[in-house]
Amino acid sequence: MTDSKSQLYDQLARQLGSLLAGERDLIANAANFSSLVFHSVPALNWAGFYFAKDGELVLGPFQGQPACVRIKFGQGVCGVGAAKCETVIVPNVHEFPGHIACDSASNSEIVVPLMKDSRVLGVLDLDSPLPARFDQEDAQGLEQLVRILLSSVTS
Ligand code: SME
Repeated sequence: MTDSKSQLYDQLARQLGSLLAGERDLIANAANFSSLVFHSVPALNWAGFYFAKDGELVLGPFQGQPACVRIKFGQGVCGVGAAKCETVIVPNVHEFPGHIACDSASNSEIVVPLMKDSRVLGVLDLDSPLPARFDQEDAQGLEQLVRILLSSVTS
């Protein structure tokens, strides 16, 4: 990672650890996670979660404009990330087949799956108005933050 990004995500990892300490409720911790990330990571217009429920993704805690509530596995960036169980970086959402536009301000997006024992519990989704806002450094940093969230509710 570059110094600045690695420093940002290291700092966020420490802050998140303190913020979630002592609380094991997934919704509460996902809500504070989305607020911390939305207000700390530069150039975002949406940050939040979708949780796997009855074979589809259902909107969870988030910050930003109101969003679509249900997304099928395999559909949109979120559904593809959940179906593949891997982080998806989309430099230009307008070129992504099946992209689901919730906020017309979004131009790039990253989706990180929440994996527990080889099962996908949901996804973290960040949108940016900047083209190509997210890279491998963001993926690694956000995957680290997701691990902190998951261990706060399961360990
Ligand atoms: N763009 C997403 C939908 C969720 S919103 O961005 C909040 C997608 O294509 O799955």
